[in-house]
Amino acid sequence: MVLRLMPLLLLALSKPTFSLDNGLALTPPMGWMAWERFRCNTDCLNDPDNCISEKLIKAMADKIVQGGYKDAGYQYVSIDDCWLAKERDSNGKLQPDAARFPSGIAALAAYIHNLGLKFGIYEDIGTKTCAGYPGSYANLETDAQTFADWGVDMLKLDGCYANASYYAYGYPAMSKALNKTGRPIMYSCSWPAYIQTPPYDTIAKYCNIWRNYGDIQDNWSSVYSIIDHYGNNTDKFAEIAGPGQYNDPDELIIGDFGITYDQWRAQMALWAIYASPLIMSVDLRNIDPSAAKILLNRNVIAVNQDPLGKQGRRVFKGTIIETYIRELKGNSMAVALLRTTDGPTPVKINRSLEDLGLSVATSYDCYEVFEGSFIGTLSPKDDVSVWLNPSGGVYFMLCHPNPSPSNI
Ligand SMILES: *[C@@H]1O[C@H](CO)[C@@H](O)[C@H](O)[C@H]1NC(C)=O
Ligand SMILES: *[C@@H]1O[C@H](CO)[C@@H](O)[C@H](O)[C@H]1NC(C)=O
Ligand SMILES: *[C@@H]1O[C@H](CO)[C@@H](O)[C@H](O)[C@H]1NC(C)=O
Ligand SMILES: *[C@@H]1O[C@H](CO)[C@@H](O)[C@H](O)[C@H]1NC(C)=O
Ligand SMILES: *[C@@H]1O[C@H](CO)[C@@H](O)[C@H](O)[C@H]1NC(C)=O
Repeated sequence: MVLRLMPLLLLALSKPTFSLDNGLALTPPMGWMAWERFRCNTDCLNDPDNCISEKLIKAMADKIVQGGYKDAGYQYVSIDDCWLAKERDSNGKLQPDAARFPSGIAALAAYIHNLGLKFGIYEDIGTKTCAGYPGSYANLETDAQTFADWGVDMLKLDGCYANASYYAYGYPAMSKALNKTGRPIMYSCSWPAYIQTPPYDTIAKYCNIWRNYGDIQDNWSSVYSIIDHYGNNTDKFAEIAGPGQYNDPDELIIGDFGITYDQWRAQMALWAIYASPLIMSVDLRNIDPSAAKILLNRNVIAVNQDPLGKQGRRVFKGTIIETYIRELKGNSMAVALLRTTDGPTPVKINRSLEDLGLSVATSYDCYEVFEGSFIGTLSPKDDVSVWLNPSGGVYFMLCHPNPSPSNI
């Protein structure tokens, strides 16, 4: 049953090699992004409240403050594709769609800054964006300067309408162009998601975060395929992650339509274990309170934001259950037990730590992360006995070496 054992000592040895020196994303960035929930809805005539427009982005920024997300650490408010006009202006500069962004991007950035938040924008390295708007191809320096002039704090640079040899030139070139503006701009590269064998050392040298898999969709098979892809590449992805440089498994779909409450919790737990950017894509104006509670959970966020910035690993993949573990400061560890099989009923898992891929050398005081409740002291010879709901049921533990501080 045991696929592999990962002594904690071994985890402690891995360290990132290169990093982009812009002082940003020292812990995984947190924020909100338009894409998964609002897509390329440009129909402001029939759907004025949900089309990609300054009105929508401002409304979300307001909610990030009012809903307590800002206080919880969510910071970047990011527009995605479909904000641009179909043509550059007469000086060759990018310009937003005038009907949907009548005040201009600089004014939108200023609005967001006044709320104490940061503003993220989207472009594409190729000749066009994925939705067919003007790309940055042959305009990297001009566009970097335009973004800096507007007060942009983050750039997501997509990879449509370009090829692998151009990526190898263009992504680093944009990184240098952003640096040259003098404005710290967090840089998200879609580069590895578009090629077979990404040069991660180089990517980490030029990008703060990078997508390495297809877009998340609002269903569990999509969420699980991302979790599984990260599990399949567990050492490679964990080794390259660290302060300033993180793998990005894409947006959180917690509070949307397609997955269950248990699966929302599973996504949050796994994104915390994976040291993933926590980028919500949900309508914060009418979010389900139980989804908001998950997104705002301080204990889970604290695991995600652990200052060591180490990405966790999958250490066991069985037929019913998988085990994920992340090393945290103070020799603590976060452990997620994820049930991958369908229903109809909860199952009781009762296995030794070793059988779950969790051989430990010392004893730990363990807390359930979502509730913050004390579970008990776990010793090397103990069994773990938990109930797991079908298809995405997760048991999420934070364990401190014993003796340890008496709280989570
Ligand atoms: C630009 O790069 C230099 C050298 O890596 C770094 O010291 C500086 O902080 C960077 N500036 C910005 C704005 O990213
Ligand atoms: C890749 O794209 C660049 C820039 O458009 C182009 O010059 C080059 O010929 C392309 N290479 C291949 C192999 O298609
Ligand atoms: C679920 O996500 C997958 C991608 O993993 C996608 O191919 C599929 O179309 C999605 N299904 C629905 C019903 O949206
Ligand atoms: C992970 O690896 C397993 C076993 O090789 C494979 O069946 C599965 O499709 C992989 N998952 C993804 C998302 O590629
Ligand atoms: C778990 O299984 C072991 C034997 O494998 C048994 O001794 C123990 O009582 C079980 N624990 C629970 C809580 O069911």
